[in-house]
Amino acid sequence: MPAVIEAVNVGRTFKAPKGALRVLSGLTLSIGNGETIAITGASGSGKSTLLQILGCLDRPTAGQIIIEGRETSSLSDRELASLRNASMGFVFQFHHLLPEFCAWENVAMPLLVRGQSLAQAEETSRKILGGLGLEDRAEHKPNELSGGEQQRVAIARAVVARPLVLLADEPTGNLDRATGQNVAQLLWELNQNTGIALVIVTHNQEIAQRAQRTLELKDGTLWTR
Ligand SMILES: Nc1ncnc2c1ncn2[C@@H]1O[C@H](COP(=O)(O)OP(=O)(O)O)[C@@H](O)[C@H]1O
Ligand SMILES: [Mg+2]
Repeated sequence: MPAVIEAVNVGRTFKAPKGALRVLSGLTLSIGNGETIAITGASGSGKSTLLQILGCLDRPTAGQIIIEGRETSSLSDRELASLRNASMGFVFQFHHLLPEFCAWENVAMPLLVRGQSLAQAEETSRKILGGLGLEDRAEHKPNELSGGEQQRVAIARAVVARPLVLLADEPTGNLDRATGQNVAQLLWELNQNTGIALVIVTHNQEIAQRAQRTLELKDGTLWTR
């Protein structure tokens, strides 16, 4: 079975006022089916840049990103977006839920975008919220939810369309310690129950330790810790 995501010799350079800013360089990583990987690294080391590239939200300036055996550099933006929609789920430090929609409507959004009927999308969304302990929060708008609940809804939205991999960029960074542990626990359970691969960027050592592999991003590349 091919790796879910393979990064081969990936580089990412940004144009900067004083020449080029090289953030990633010669970075190679293979994410297996159902694997859990924690990525740590100093602020500004390129962790978010890496996740955006792994998730095909951004393109590398060198090297290759291969999704399930499919090399992506020759894909058009539209093809890349459809591959991303089919294979990737994202969770960020801030939930990015749509404020005017309630929890189940937010979760249903990726299904509606795929052309599912409203009734079908609502049923699936309520089911997944129930599985995450949010059954009685389904009608609440984001500002009526606690930080931990908001993040759980964001996770539900990220996985509702059954992606192969969940890319989480400091998903507990905005939560207190106990709430952060709860949210992290939920991510591990999702991995165990559904087999979704998980790549989590975190500064929290307790969380990082639970991943099968912990890698540190430093000098543009990943180091085994
Ligand atoms: N779109 C961009 N344009 C220019 N520089 C960027 C861009 N995105 C990130 N950077 C720079 O790349 C470096 C790494 O940023 P980032 O990936 O956000 O780091 P981290 O997530 O590890 O804190 C930083 O110096 C940042 O300023
Ligand atoms: Mg970041």
